[in-house]
Amino acid sequence: MSLSRRTILLSGAALGAAGAVTGLPVAAGAAAAHRPLTYPFTLGVASGDPDHDGFVLWTRLAPQPLAEDGLGGMPDRDVPVHWELAADERFRHVVRRGVAVARTRSAHSVHVELAGLLPGREYFYRFRAERHLSPIGRTRTAPAPWTMPAALAMGFASCSQYEHGYFTAYRRLAETEPELILHLGDYQYEYAPDTYNVPGGNPRDHEGPETRTLANYRQRHAQYKTDADLQAAHAVAPWAVVFDDHEVENNWADEVPEAPDPEFPARRASAFQAYYENMPLRRTSIPRGIDMQLYRRVRWGRLATFHMLDTRQYRDDQACGDGYRDCAAASDPARSITGAEQEAWLLDGFRRSDARWDILGQQVFFAQRDNNSGPLTVTSMDAWDGYAASRDRITRGWLGAGVRNPVVLTGDVHAHWASDLKLDYADPTSRTVGTELVCSSITSTGDGADSVSGSHPWFAFNPHLRFQNNLRGYVRTTITPGQLTADFDVLPYVTRPDAPAYTRASFVIEDRVPGLHQTADNPLPSGARTATPSADPGQQTVQQETVRP
Ligand SMILES: [Fe+2]
Repeated sequence: MSLSRRTILLSGAALGAAGAVTGLPVAAGAAAAHRPLTYPFTLGVASGDPDHDGFVLWTRLAPQPLAEDGLGGMPDRDVPVHWELAADERFRHVVRRGVAVARTRSAHSVHVELAGLLPGREYFYRFRAERHLSPIGRTRTAPAPWTMPAALAMGFASCSQYEHGYFTAYRRLAETEPELILHLGDYQYEYAPDTYNVPGGNPRDHEGPETRTLANYRQRHAQYKTDADLQAAHAVAPWAVVFDDHEVENNWADEVPEAPDPEFPARRASAFQAYYENMPLRRTSIPRGIDMQLYRRVRWGRLATFHMLDTRQYRDDQACGDGYRDCAAASDPARSITGAEQEAWLLDGFRRSDARWDILGQQVFFAQRDNNSGPLTVTSMDAWDGYAASRDRITRGWLGAGVRNPVVLTGDVHAHWASDLKLDYADPTSRTVGTELVCSSITSTGDGADSVSGSHPWFAFNPHLRFQNNLRGYVRTTITPGQLTADFDVLPYVTRPDAPAYTRASFVIEDRVPGLHQTADNPLPSGARTATPSADPGQQTVQQETVRP
């Protein structure tokens, strides 16, 4: 990628100040009947759910993004939004253009779902509303279904509590220019300002109350989307997103809220509506009341199939009252974390798959994670441990289907983890039947702390757990036909802006060999935690040598 393109994308700058210098028509008389909009692209642009001939382009108009009514300061009228798709970042080769309508009833969000494009191609897009031009986004189509691409650079992230720090990790991920980004949940948090605090105090505050109404959720999404680092990550590549709990409410399970609440169905419907409006999702995910189709597949030629799961909407209520428990009901075969329909869909997908890598993009810890050093097995009732029979059916499902390389990707726990997946976690000598990679949070729980790799106390009685690190960050994967490389990137701090990123550890999974091989363990450079980012060119050089070797 040329330096100029990189500068354009990562600075979020719009090319040209008005439609006159672009192929987008300049609005004339139509706007005269209304008060003209002030700059409405404060939430940036995004794209998502790529397939071999298309993707979704997204934006939402919000001249005053923090408006309490959630409507972004928009007038109560439909606004035509012109869009352009080009093969080049200068928009000299425009391949598609059109007009979408941003409507009040969808908070002036725009979803343009494109098809019929060429496979395996990079595209650039932008929007215009009246005389205002959006930033430019880059996206791409997946490779053709029958092809075996040489490599895919994919990054995944989760848990971005706005109050807990700066979204620098999103920017550092964007700077690595992945071709695809997965977000595995807790994209936003429901809390009122200052009710979920990190040690030393939150560096930023939520706007508005705890989210309950559609207006609340729309306002909260808008606040998150104003973040320039998050916008940079959306603008650099297509995303495939799934929600976890905090997009609605902490630890909800189907229609059961955390604490009894007769209004919960309405709350869930509002949360889903706002989530759809603010994410680059296909029209198949438009919510219908309290229901929303979120589980789906993203295929990357014959190299990888991403099975994106929904482990919230259909799950049984957490066993034994939630929390960490040694709980017999957690193994009840009648209980499910996916629901029967999604389970059948997933198992069927395993049987039909001809992908080299079958990757589960999902929310909560899959491997057993016992926190009790004694004879009890004390695990999280909110994770797959609370639905052990469900986990067993999925695991045996991929074995029975002969899935060549099953890999589970996970968020939720606000720390990096990596695990070998076992057929029987009670027997450390049982077969390794897959691999799990867990990304730390972007910000949630604040700065965290580095530690010596392999030193986590739970490793002694969970030998399948192989890596843990409690700094913030994201995971980058390079997927080829022969191996999957996972780089666990960390930031030394997030409660101050502009931290560098370091690749703390790297693992490789070889084709047809389930389980992890560690290839790098890089302690942080001394002074990394306290270093203040500097514009001094000498120091920049030193940083670049140590960042992501
Ligand atoms: Fe979280």
